[in-house]
Amino acid sequence: MADRIFEEADVASAWDRNAALWASGVEAGFDLYRELYTLPAFLAFLPQIEGLRVIDLGCGEGSNTRRFASLGARMTGIDLSEEMIRRARREEKHRPLGVRYEVCSFSNIEIAEAESYDGALSTLALMDGPDFGLAVREAHRVLVPGGRLCFSILHPCFITRAAAWLRAADGAYTGLKVGHYFDRAPFVEQWRFGKHPEGRRLRPFEVPRFPRTLSDYVNAVCAAGFRITGIEEPRPEETACAAHPWLSRWRRHAPLVLFVSAVKA
Ligand SMILES: C[S@@+](CC[C@H](N)C(=O)[O-])C[C@H]1O[C@@H](n2cnc3c(N)ncnc32)[C@H](O)[C@@H]1O
Repeated sequence: MADRIFEEADVASAWDRNAALWASGVEAGFDLYRELYTLPAFLAFLPQIEGLRVIDLGCGEGSNTRRFASLGARMTGIDLSEEMIRRARREEKHRPLGVRYEVCSFSNIEIAEAESYDGALSTLALMDGPDFGLAVREAHRVLVPGGRLCFSILHPCFITRAAAWLRAADGAYTGLKVGHYFDRAPFVEQWRFGKHPEGRRLRPFEVPRFPRTLSDYVNAVCAAGFRITGIEEPRPEETACAAHPWLSRWRRHAPLVLFVSAVKA
């Protein structure tokens, strides 16, 4: 794939190509960062959503959407990728939780009327679209006054294009090098589920990235009309690190993800 991506159509086709491998890895529990770190922390960060109408922005194959539905929320999941939504709907058919899934961009939520949701959630998806400002303005439009937007993104300060772990001679992690923090040029990242048993034999995911700074994110949320009520830079739990020592670097040196909670003023 070319190294410069600007269009949502490119994002959609990249995730269509990633969908089969992504969904089978997630379903098999090979996305250990999600299982051990990012999802438990996000669930702890969430306000109470039971009984609320909630939209999941960039829901992928719906794994997290189903978790939110199991907390009692009336969920809609939207994603740009038809392949992801096809898989999400198939799972809904096998194990119904009353989730509605639609192919739709979070930058143009045409399936939703203004003020039709009590909450908007998003896990590790909003950084993957070309126009974050548009996405938060759309989230603001579809929320009722007082409605909440809670999202996770890769931490913009640490997961930069040049990020690399620093290691001592004995292999111990001593820190994280960042770089190109201010470089907003889109690029395509290649990565795998790090703990997949097939390791490097697995075809990598190709993910279009749209780097932004922390202030880009915060200012866009505020400019859309939200009041930020909380920010968190979660660390993996000590118990998880004890059981899976490879996680410890994210506890000791730098957070992988940033959580933002905001309310429609
Ligand atoms: C890393 S996956 C995360 C999926 C899911 N939230 C999860 O946590 O498993 C990112 C997802 O965002 C979707 N996405 C990217 N840009 C989007 C957009 N503009 N509108 C809707 N979905 C989008 C992709 O298709 C992909 O399924």
